[in-house]
Amino acid sequence: MTKDDLVKEIERLKKERDAIILVHNYQIPEVQDIADELGDSLDLSRKAATTTKKTIVFCGVLFMAQSAKLLSPEKNVLIPRIEAGCAMAAMVNKEELLKFKSEHPKAKVVAYVNTTAETKSVSDVCCTSANAVKIVQKLDTDEIIFVPDKNLGSYVAKFTDKKVHLWPGYCYVHNQFTVEDVEKARDFHPEAKLIVHPEAPAEVVALADSVESTSGMIRYVQETDAREIIVGTEIGMIYRLEREVPEKIYYPLKENAVCKNMKLTTLEDVYKSLSEKRYEIFLDSKVAEKARLSLEKMLELS
Ligand code: 13P
Ligand code: SF4
Repeated sequence: MTKDDLVKEIERLKKERDAIILVHNYQIPEVQDIADELGDSLDLSRKAATTTKKTIVFCGVLFMAQSAKLLSPEKNVLIPRIEAGCAMAAMVNKEELLKFKSEHPKAKVVAYVNTTAETKSVSDVCCTSANAVKIVQKLDTDEIIFVPDKNLGSYVAKFTDKKVHLWPGYCYVHNQFTVEDVEKARDFHPEAKLIVHPEAPAEVVALADSVESTSGMIRYVQETDAREIIVGTEIGMIYRLEREVPEKIYYPLKENAVCKNMKLTTLEDVYKSLSEKRYEIFLDSKVAEKARLSLEKMLELS
């Protein structure tokens, strides 16, 4: 099928299945172009929780589709590529977290949404990069455990007096950014502002003009007077920014900042997902019952 035929078929099947297509900001351009809702983890969780459609096709990574299923358990949630996991979500599991909790019995657990449903099921509340600071500030406790991202956790720790116990997880895409990358980019583009995702290392975050979730980056670019922007996140974000604010110029902080699993989903996969109802997300009901509470608590506090 040609690209146009695929897009038409996706449109037709979407109506037939009463489906909505949710797409993360890092997906490839053709997939971003067929989105009903395009956004960061928080935008897409909110949409998944409130949509009236019967089917959700989630173009992103597995924890995002699982979160959609947790928030809308009665819906059919499909992920076009089942192997598209988040490497960071695999850096902590339920057993390891329970052991860490037993070493810090007074602490409440804040789990980044980039975790499995099992990890969420033994956490008190979830957060995304867009609301992490707010959630930690609002949480009624003096001590927290933050899993799994050490970088987001240490960014959040700067905005609270609470004691924060970090977990040594990280995102391989963002953790590779260095001070030298920033110096080089600023040398080449002295007029540009630098926006950075809080999954980047603390020394890079410290040099940013603004630290933002992926959708926060769009708002920043819309509001700033700067014409040129250095983008410190996964490079898929540049297509999204060009689409939303085309009059500005964007430079990647690093050309090879690519999340491999975010790039797996193609138009053909979305078509097959809708036509063959694949791959449907199923969760253990006991795990889901507990994991849902931590996601619902996040939506309540943010
Ligand atoms: P956002 O919620 O900011 O889109 O981040 C998700 C993610 O996986 C970043 O690597
Ligand atoms: Fe996970 Fe990093 Fe990919 Fe985001 S960019 S999905 S945190 S591996």
